[in-house]
Amino acid sequence: MKIAIINGPNLNLLGTREPGIYGSQGFDEYFKGLQQLFPQVAFSYFQSNIEGELINELQRVGFDYDGIVLNPAGYTHTSVAIGDAIAALKTTVVEVHISNVHAREEFRKLSHVSGKSAGSIIGLGLKGYELAVRWLIEHQ
Ligand code: DQA
Repeated sequence: MKIAIINGPNLNLLGTREPGIYGSQGFDEYFKGLQQLFPQVAFSYFQSNIEGELINELQRVGFDYDGIVLNPAGYTHTSVAIGDAIAALKTTVVEVHISNVHAREEFRKLSHVSGKSAGSIIGLGLKGYELAVRWLIEHQ
C-alpha cells in the first residue's frame, strides 16, 4: 500500500516554529516513527513552501497511490487551486491540521480543502497524521 504525506508552507520548521501551538517535535523525527508504526505502508513524504509545487506533487501521486495525507498549512485558507487539484484526483485525500484551526483566528475557519477531502483531522497534534494513515489503511 502506498501513502503520500504532503505538508505545506512552514511545516519544515516544525519543532522550532511556535512550539506552544505546533509542539516541539520536528517532522523528520515524527515521520521515522510513523514509518516504524506502519511497516506495511510504502510512504512518500513531500514538503514545499510553494503552492504550485504542492499541486504538482498532488497530481504526481494522486492517480496511483492508495491515499494522501495532506496538511496544506496556510494554503488551506487561501488556495482554490489546491481544492481544485484534490477534486481532480482519483486517490482519497485526508486533510490534517496539527492545531485546532477553529479555536484560532477567524480566517483559519475557512478551508478550501475540507469539502474536497474524505475527512479532516484537526487539533490532535502530530497524532493526526497517524490517525489519518490508520483510516486510509482500514478504508483502502
Ligand atoms: C496548520 C494550521 C494553519 O492555519 C496554519 O497556517 C499552518 C498549520 C496546522 O497544521 O495546524 O501552517 O495547517
